[in-house]
Amino acid sequence: MKEEIKQLSVGDKTIPPEGAKMIPIYIMGREYLVPETLTILKAVEYAGYQYVRGCGCRGGICGACGVYYRIMGDYRLRSGLACQTVIQPNMVLAQLPFFPVNRPGYNMEDFRDDPHGALRALYPEVFKCVGCGTCTRVCPMDIDVMDYIALIKRGNLKKAAEKSFDCVMCGLCASRCPAQISQFTAAMLVRRINGRYLTPKAQHLKKRKEEVESGKYEVMLKELMAMPVEALKKLYMEREREPDLAPPGWMPQDTSHL
Ligand code: SF4
Ligand code: SF4
Ligand code: FES
Repeated sequence: MKEEIKQLSVGDKTIPPEGAKMIPIYIMGREYLVPETLTILKAVEYAGYQYVRGCGCRGGICGACGVYYRIMGDYRLRSGLACQTVIQPNMVLAQLPFFPVNRPGYNMEDFRDDPHGALRALYPEVFKCVGCGTCTRVCPMDIDVMDYIALIKRGNLKKAAEKSFDCVMCGLCASRCPAQISQFTAAMLVRRINGRYLTPKAQHLKKRKEEVESGKYEVMLKELMAMPVEALKKLYMEREREPDLAPPGWMPQDTSHL
């Protein structure tokens, strides 16, 4: 009869639903009994480990919690985000502290005239993709990684930037690539090129920047800085807020500072 691990006090993150069944998982080669409903992240904490680095956002956004696992008796190596993947019985887990990738330094000015050529010089390995599709299969965000790599190869950087937009930089695609490609850092560069050179400039942002630089808001800022803290708090609490489901074109009643 296995002894149950005593639950730790780490907020409400590890409190299992009443009556949850306990199942065995393996962390660093050791067996632990944990409630079956937990995500890997919470199960590891439940087992007594504490995340010092890589605990991240806990919400599937930051990509800090890449994890590899096998189900005992199954030959397949699986991967996912620890904060999103629910545990299964006999999971053998290895959390990635981080994955070392190719992250060459660059100056965005170098991509002004010939972005595709400059990208090719910086990431020649991208053009050696063998089209195996492994990256697409492991991506926890369901991104068609192979497709955005193909778009980069063809020079369609705008489309590649859009296709890779949901990437959380977990590194799982790069960890399995037989062509040694760091897909997600190349895609990050492509999104930067897209933002800087391929997307039309936002006119309202340009206008607001000019207003800030012309000192339009200096008087208002000085008034705020001179206010007592309590008055500032009151002003903040009573401010007009945009409703969650604001109709298109919604504007605040007081537009004097816009
Ligand atoms: S593209 Fe790669 S780094 Fe980005 S989320 Fe998918 S697997 Fe992770
Ligand atoms: S894993 Fe590597 S070689 Fe295979 S499709 Fe993806 S980028 Fe290409
Ligand atoms: S902790 Fe941020 S994605 Fe999992």
